[in-house]
Amino acid sequence: MKKNIKALILSGGKGTRLKPLTTTIPKQLLPVANKPILSYVIDQIAEAGISDVGMIIAPETGNLIKEFAGDGSKWGVKITYIMQADPLGLAHAVSTAGEFLGTSPFLMFLGDNLIQGGVKKFVDQFRSDDSDSLILLKSVPDPRLFGVAEIDRNGALVKLVEKPKKPKSDLAIVGVYLFNKHIHSAIKSLKPSWRGELEITDAIQKMIESNRQVGSYILQGWWLDTGKKDDMLEANRVVLDDLLKREIQGKIDSKSRVAGRVEIRKGTEIINSRVRGPVSISEGCRIVNSFIGPFTSIGARSVVEDSSIEHSVILEGCHIKRIERLEDSIIGRACKVIYDESSFRNKKLFLGDDAIVEL
Ligand code: DAU
Repeated sequence: MKKNIKALILSGGKGTRLKPLTTTIPKQLLPVANKPILSYVIDQIAEAGISDVGMIIAPETGNLIKEFAGDGSKWGVKITYIMQADPLGLAHAVSTAGEFLGTSPFLMFLGDNLIQGGVKKFVDQFRSDDSDSLILLKSVPDPRLFGVAEIDRNGALVKLVEKPKKPKSDLAIVGVYLFNKHIHSAIKSLKPSWRGELEITDAIQKMIESNRQVGSYILQGWWLDTGKKDDMLEANRVVLDDLLKREIQGKIDSKSRVAGRVEIRKGTEIINSRVRGPVSISEGCRIVNSFIGPFTSIGARSVVEDSSIEHSVILEGCHIKRIERLEDSIIGRACKVIYDESSFRNKKLFLGDDAIVEL
């Protein structure tokens, strides 16, 4: 029986695959269904009964993470911040947290990962058995993007490889791990990988080689890794579909129709528009003469006029005007997307670095 399990959330790193959004917002704070992904992560940790949480942060984005999560009291947990000066890998993050972790068993949770149904079941299992580690696996279409696990006929782990060119299975390693103190000696013997990082995958492989007991569990429910653009849209779709409840706190005028599971937060007005859920519209928005279709999230204080939007994520403070059929799009904070009827066929753009425009 293991006592005093701690949690370590990894909220450092660079988030380069989600540029330009991550130029100003750390990827762990990007919203999924109008709530930062990190908030779901802390919810799930609290729900598993863990209250002592270490949070790895990076110098560039650490302040924003701190501002958001504070001392953790919002979730009933206590957060200790740990600065990782350079993103030298997941195993490097664990050794940076050495003082916080001590010899405690711990749950390590990547701050941009989320799994259906939370982690309580796995934490409880690890608490009560005598394994040295428990990892979660999920069958995916392209395992080359992840750490990959090879298992034998009985389901026992044979070998783990980080982002293999020729994967031996379709089982990706999910970013939620349980370890006891033996992970630290495995990390001490690591060398940087081809991408120059100390890989947690290699450390777990070392544990297997030294006959430590590493268990695995194949997830059946959804797993979201919000590292890339399409993943963010997919995460928004899945979470709206699975977790959203109908809740109307804003005002809907008599000419509007709001159907299905739709969340409309305080101070938002829906005027002469149709909203078909699942949709989340945050505080202080104005939706005028528009259609907001399924799987859309609209951030606080945004204005949508004479437009139709579907399957998209609009962050806060945006203005969308006279845009027909905006689909599969992610729009960063305070963007204006306006169709100007007076300028025949010419397009006027004022875009920041790394923007993508598909017309
Ligand atoms: O998402 C699951 C995958 O996560 C696993 O399948 C892989 O085996 C594992 O290596 C990891 O791969 P990624 O390449 O996707 O990891 P990424 O660099 O995106 O970092 C994951 C999280 O950890 C992210 O929230 C940033 C944070 N991080 C990352 C590094 C490299 C840190 O806090 N410090 C770091 O040094």
